[in-house]
Amino acid sequence: MHADIVVLPGDGIGPEVTAAAVEVLQAVARRYGHRFALHTHLIGGAAIDATGTPLPDDTLAAARDADAVLLGAVGGPKWSDPNATVRPEQGLLAIRKALGLYANLRPTRPHNAAIGASPIKPHLLAGVDLLVVRELTGGIYFGARTRSAEAASDLCTYSVAEIERVVRRACLLARGRRGHVTSVDKANVLETSRLWRDVATRMARDEFPDITLDHQLVDSMAMHLLSRPRAFDVIVTENMFGDILTDEASMLAGSLGLLPSASLGDGGAKTDGSASPGRVKGLFEPIHGSAPDIAGQGIANPYGAILSAALLLRYSLGLSMEAACIEQAVDSALEDGVFSADIAAGGHAHSTRAVTAAVLERIEVTCQVTELRD
Ligand code: NAD
Ligand code: IPM
Ligand code: MN
Repeated sequence: MHADIVVLPGDGIGPEVTAAAVEVLQAVARRYGHRFALHTHLIGGAAIDATGTPLPDDTLAAARDADAVLLGAVGGPKWSDPNATVRPEQGLLAIRKALGLYANLRPTRPHNAAIGASPIKPHLLAGVDLLVVRELTGGIYFGARTRSAEAASDLCTYSVAEIERVVRRACLLARGRRGHVTSVDKANVLETSRLWRDVATRMARDEFPDITLDHQLVDSMAMHLLSRPRAFDVIVTENMFGDILTDEASMLAGSLGLLPSASLGDGGAKTDGSASPGRVKGLFEPIHGSAPDIAGQGIANPYGAILSAALLLRYSLGLSMEAACIEQAVDSALEDGVFSADIAAGGHAHSTRAVTAAVLERIEVTCQVTELRD
């Protein structure tokens, strides 16, 4: 098949891990006879430096027109002055919103081989396989903000429609898994959470009687995630809770550098009756940030970005065999002890390039090409 993929490397280690994911996509294209046209554009701090804005118009236009977007990370100390009016992170929030990508899927499945990198006891990690579905275009991230010399405010708003569509996505995903959804909120304090809980309860009853729905308060959820991670299947939650809980969940796998994500909308359909988000079906990025402390050293863990490329193939291009090929290559590299510094636990640390080379090698030998397609 032919696909147009927009690549947004961004800042810090973003370009380093994105380069790894691009090499992997190209290797998969060669092996399975696809043509991926890659179009690189600016976002974040790099875009501010070049154009004065974190999401230039041509970047957004290219993303709308693409089949999928692959992103590295944005941000860094250069653009983090507390009084700055333009910030790299605004570019990321703006592209998610403009493309209507309301559901952010963040899977965590600790790999046996890397379990030594996790601070959690190994017997708690066996069999852990969870999927956080984070609401991505609403809540406190997008509410009105005020700031005066004496005070500041951030408004958190959710509409019924915003809650419905992300809970529906989580329930549909749970149907293909173990049929269990845990909805996380702070309904003992927040009105948005009480609405969230009401909507989720009604939907499970009326639309998804086959799904088991539990509710959990976010503070105790932060504890349960570490003390009994096996108890969870799909976790659905609002924007900020999902951001925080998934960085925590990454410690089950051993590092922030291991986790991929897929941000999905309604596949290019109009989502809110206003401007169409275009034909793009998803944006794919590791969950970590630009890691300024290790940027430029060639030691960043590229597995999260590489696994994001696998999600891109599965969710935006419908290439599940090719996605599985990447995931198997990553499994095999980890089994063979190909660890970057963050997961090496004192053992030999492989560079970003060496990890990437190990994955590429395994794509050539491990993956079965059952049919050649064009
Ligand atoms: P971070 O995720 O960048 O880094 C946290 C820690 O994890 C650091 O010690 C870092 O070295 C380590 N780490 C992260 N990814 C790694 C990888 N692939 N390999 C090895 N180690 C890795 O979070 P932070 O330090 O809080 O934020 C730094 C900047 O990144 C901020 O400007 C923030 O806004 C931005 N950020 C961007 C994104 C994104 O673009 N999606 C996500 C999170 C943070
Ligand atoms: C993430 C990041 C972003 C978020 C920031 C950089 C805006 O932390 O993708 O997890 O909070 O969504
Ligand atoms: Mn985050």
